[in-house]
Amino acid sequence: MSGELHGEGGGRAERFWEEHYRKQERVWSGKANPVLVDIARPLPPGTGLDLGCGEGGDAVWLAGLGWRVTAVDVSATALDRASTYAAEAGVDGHIDFQQHDLAHTFPAGTFDLVSAQYLQSPVEFPRDRVLQAAARAAAPGGLLLIVTHASVPPWFRAHRNTRFPSPDEELAELELDPSLWQPEFVGAPERQATGPNGETGAVTDNVIAVRRLPQ
Ligand SMILES: C[S@@+](CC[C@H](N)C(=O)[O-])C[C@H]1O[C@@H](n2cnc3c(N)ncnc32)[C@H](O)[C@@H]1O
Repeated sequence: MSGELHGEGGGRAERFWEEHYRKQERVWSGKANPVLVDIARPLPPGTGLDLGCGEGGDAVWLAGLGWRVTAVDVSATALDRASTYAAEAGVDGHIDFQQHDLAHTFPAGTFDLVSAQYLQSPVEFPRDRVLQAAARAAAPGGLLLIVTHASVPPWFRAHRNTRFPSPDEELAELELDPSLWQPEFVGAPERQATGPNGETGAVTDNVIAVRRLPQ
């Protein structure tokens, strides 16, 4: 793993997410996100970019299927956990962990799959600009997959009246050239989720899966 933050380090995003991860021994389940599993399982393995990889559930799952993954997060603690998880799963040689604050720097290269799963942040984050960079990182013929929380889970009492953008509004914010991109799925499916105290309920995700046309 590259041990230092690329570009400007020590910003608000890094401080917020470091504190978030350090507060708990483990934040996420370690399982791959269900929309990623549905969409990526049938794809032939290639190169993948996981933006905001957290503790590595998605990256390790992809690597286990034969993908060569670049996994990025702003939090060194999350990346350390992800790296340990990858070693335990025997796929550490297939994942390049990189620490970036994506507001400032972005990993080099182009990828067959660019995945941004819940790349959302309560601290200032230029999400549209980062996701436009994510689109540019898709290789010709590659898939861009963006999954975003689009509802307040039933166990959160605050923010009940939050208005979420529709999937089409999110797609428009990517400013993709329609002659270069083919939408494969743009929608807001519901799924059952489990809250921090084991409670379950329906939540909605915005899902954008768009393929960059081969040139
Ligand atoms: C809501 S979590 C989602 C984690 C993981 N993708 C998942 O689905 O479990 C958002 C992740 O994005 C990372 N992140 C937030 N802001 C970032 C930034 N500016 N640059 C890079 N990563 C960032 C956080 O550290 C966190 O791991």
